[in-house]
Amino acid sequence: MLQETDFRAIRFNPHTLFSECWAALVAGSERGGANAMTIAWGMMGSLWNFSDQGVAAVYVRESRHTKRFMDREAYFSINVLPEELRSAHAILGAKSGRDIDKWAASGLTPVFEDGCCYIAESDQVFI
Ligand SMILES: Cc1cc2nc3c(=O)[nH]c(=O)nc-3n(C[C@H](O)[C@H](O)[C@H](O)COP(=O)(O)O)c2cc1C
Repeated sequence: MLQETDFRAIRFNPHTLFSECWAALVAGSERGGANAMTIAWGMMGSLWNFSDQGVAAVYVRESRHTKRFMDREAYFSINVLPEELRSAHAILGAKSGRDIDKWAASGLTPVFEDGCCYIAESDQVFI
């Protein structure tokens, strides 16, 4: 279960989050299915009237299967996995959901909530 936190209260370094820890980008719905992929290109910050919530930008190549899900859904999530599950990126970042079921292959659990999908095992989720 997610415990909601005020974005302004979180102390973290967005640069190392993306460039060193990496994240799992997830988009999808219970009805249409969901997909996850590793990302290391991204940014988080403050913009215009979103300054209360913070904003995130991710950079996803057109060829990624996950892009289809992002285009279809209103939300996507940026999931930070615990260190012990880092090996899941060997699947999420090297295989395509076009060819395999990444949920079955990685052992990660998709959660569908409030129109968004995220990974149950995540330490942190940004929606
Ligand atoms: C460490 C790492 C970081 C990556 N970062 C990105 C990224 O930011 N944007 C992107 O388009 N692809 C990135 N990729 C590549 C995708 O994760 C990879 O192509 C994945 O298999 C796409 O899966 P999909 O076809 O199921 O969407 C990264 C891969 C790795 C290993």
